[in-house]
Amino acid sequence: MKNICVIGVGYVGLVTGTCFADLGNRVMALDINEERIANLKQGLLPIYEPGLEEMVKRNVAAGRLSFTTHYAEALAEAEFAFIAVGTPEGVDGEADLQYVRAAAESIAAHMTAPLIIVNKSTVPVGTGDWVADIVRAKQAAPIAFSVVSCPEFLREGSALADFMNPARTVLGSLDRDAANRVADLHLPLRAPIQVVDLRTAEMIKYASNAFLATKISFINEIANVCEALGADVKEVATGMGFDPRIGRQFLDAGLGYGGSCFPKDVKALAHMANVQGRHPQLLQAVMDINRDQRRLVTRKVRDLLGDLDQKTIGLLGLAFKPNTDDMRDAPAIEIARELQAGGALVKGYDPVAMSVAGRHMPGVKLCEDAYEVAAGADALIVVTEWNEFKQLDLERLRQSMRRPIVVDGRNIYHPAQMQRLGFQYRGVGRGYNGNGQH
Ligand code: UDX
Ligand code: UDX
Repeated sequence: MKNICVIGVGYVGLVTGTCFADLGNRVMALDINEERIANLKQGLLPIYEPGLEEMVKRNVAAGRLSFTTHYAEALAEAEFAFIAVGTPEGVDGEADLQYVRAAAESIAAHMTAPLIIVNKSTVPVGTGDWVADIVRAKQAAPIAFSVVSCPEFLREGSALADFMNPARTVLGSLDRDAANRVADLHLPLRAPIQVVDLRTAEMIKYASNAFLATKISFINEIANVCEALGADVKEVATGMGFDPRIGRQFLDAGLGYGGSCFPKDVKALAHMANVQGRHPQLLQAVMDINRDQRRLVTRKVRDLLGDLDQKTIGLLGLAFKPNTDDMRDAPAIEIARELQAGGALVKGYDPVAMSVAGRHMPGVKLCEDAYEVAAGADALIVVTEWNEFKQLDLERLRQSMRRPIVVDGRNIYHPAQMQRLGFQYRGVGRGYNGNGQH
């Protein structure tokens, strides 16, 4: 049992703190947002993540997990302080480190005993050293501490499983003792533990996310060629994926990557390279392809309808991916804006992201379910591949639409079946079957 403080109860911090509590540690989770902490004390979570609410309640009841807004209380007995505040995109694609700075300063002001500061937030290479400088400079009297980088590799929607069954734990520090003590916290997870220097650990995080984003842009580029040549990208991805050197994961063509990590991390890595006078050509192409990919969907709708003016278009799914309510860099926002700019009326539905979506999508009519979205629509766009959209009563859906047009941005339907049902169907990269051109 260790005493841990986690700073930031967002998607990463709340999952990390709760999982460490579940492993038997005593965790105090801190946030500067008083409303979030007040709600958490009553069992109300600020985010949707499958399984998290139950795990939070269980660990609070067991006395292993508690919440506070006070650094002095959070750090009083802590041996470890995990920084898990947000690092949003700043100007020029550079990561905005103001929250990390604030956390480092507050730690320095309130720590009373030796501490290991563990950086979970995704931060530019060199930030660990910068955090150490801040803490040293802001301490009233010198107290020993060490900074260890421990990047997160949690996917929203499956974050608990990703935490409990990691592919690896990466630790960055030249202080072997500190790294070993953080490694001990992760031993129950039984994953390989790699200890490297701080900067290398920070780079492993960026390189991993950039590589996964590259896989997505690669398959999207192939999808576009498939579409032109009459091949089916889903089968192409499956065929490629059998090769263990390639692997099937992250080869789903569609609307491109969104969310809180890939867009900002690829941009931040490119920015770091540019600042150093390097030319991140591949990263640039990855970003360009991703931007174009979202627009292709709107173009398909426009091609099928002729013109968007006065048309009603329904969006199935709004969150950036299934099993989350996160709308950060969600394709739905940009797609809705483009459709509205063309004069269309946009409706939408999402199983969990509706209340968050409302704030991000002015003018979009939010519906109760997929059938209400379809009723009277001139076209439907599948934006998020929620399971509940995979087994809809498609016959009922088609009958209620003004025109039976479905643009499937996530390739969840079978092109031949959709055509048999009387839909005008377009997937992404489903050349022969999905586009009716060949
Ligand atoms: C995390 C990571 O930390 C980020 O680097 C990574 O790239 C994506 O995931 P995330 O958990 O998604 O960020 O952030 P968010 O859900 O915005 O939560 C951050 C929390 O930190 C908020 O609750 C915010 O109130 C809190 N916070 C912010 C503090 O407690 N202190 C601060 O000074 C600033
Ligand atoms: C990502 C990382 O995977 C995770 O390790 C951590 O660093 C945080 O960032 P997350 O953004 O939550 O996780 O979800 P992920 O499943 O990686 O999907 C990211 C985006 O890529 C989503 O928009 C998703 O729709 C898209 N995607 C994913 C594809 O378009 N095709 C794929 O094959 C896989």
